[in-house]
Amino acid sequence: MRIGILTGGGDAPGLNGIIEAATKSLLRLGHEVIGIHDGFEGIFYDRTKSLSVCDVEGAHGEAGTLLGTSNRCGTEGREQEFIKKYQELKLDALVAAGGDGTFQGLQAFKEDINLIGVPKTIDNDLAGTDITFGYDTACSVVAHSVDSLRATANAHRRVIVVETMGRTAGWIALGGAMASYADAVLLPERPFKKEKLLQFIKEKRASGQRGIIVVVAEGAHSEDGEALVRDTVDGAPQAERFGGIAEHLAKYIDQNMEGESRHIVLGHLQRSTSPTTTDRFLTLAMGTTVAKMVEQKMWGHAAVYRDGVVKPAPIADFFNPPKLVEEDHRWIQMCQAVGIFV
Ligand code: F6P
Repeated sequence: MRIGILTGGGDAPGLNGIIEAATKSLLRLGHEVIGIHDGFEGIFYDRTKSLSVCDVEGAHGEAGTLLGTSNRCGTEGREQEFIKKYQELKLDALVAAGGDGTFQGLQAFKEDINLIGVPKTIDNDLAGTDITFGYDTACSVVAHSVDSLRATANAHRRVIVVETMGRTAGWIALGGAMASYADAVLLPERPFKKEKLLQFIKEKRASGQRGIIVVVAEGAHSEDGEALVRDTVDGAPQAERFGGIAEHLAKYIDQNMEGESRHIVLGHLQRSTSPTTTDRFLTLAMGTTVAKMVEQKMWGHAAVYRDGVVKPAPIADFFNPPKLVEEDHRWIQMCQAVGIFV
């Protein structure tokens, strides 16, 4: 068969692992693999390339995606054009690694395109899979940053507020804070009381601790506030760009207690770092599973991670409400058990 492969939506470390594993396994099974560049744009603007083993060799170690991607996953009003372009490519099936937006965009063609999905979101909040690749790498970036920032925070007896990605789900902040035993972590799912946080920090200081690190997800907000919007990008799927909470909190802490505070925004470093071995295992498993699914013509299904293994499940499962950090999630309990403010 002639199989197209594309990556859609925001990049996540591990996309290249999916491309390398799926391409190598599909080629070994005797199929042809057509790489589609820049998500749906490659279909609309004929940006494709037949992939050989050489094209993908070693890609798994790099963040980003060798195919390129695009946040423009809307096909509304352009359905006929999309189908026409797709048919001209003479593909028997399409493998798409993407998030909610990518698969919503492909919903319109579920009768016309033999689709195999791979779940992707750095935020780890996509329904239908217990974990998404890239998430472990993002947590490791946060954890290593917190570990490193301890030195300067201790040197100056400063509070440093570290802002992570996570618009509505706090998984990256939580995972990164746990892995680094940060002092406090603030999540979008758990609106916080600024005064309580301040009191916690003052007590830490009074107990003799020099540096204090607070991790905050970009979408976290106080009980009486809302997530801070940094700017708005007209026409983008997620038009409101969150950001600014770390700076805001650092100022608040500065103004309300002795000593100095600083902030840092980790931003796209969380997406642009070489995948961890955990993410590499995951993408190897997902990519090779995709090839098996193509062989079995399991159209309309995705390679998801559930209960410790990668297995096929309906793509429709992604359309369930996103996975958020529940009130009494075991990770919250673990934080509380070691005294992390959460
Ligand atoms: O949804 C994934 C995500 O990485 C968010 O955590 C972040 O707010 C957003 O995408 C950043 O998007 P962009 O790369 O378009 O700035």
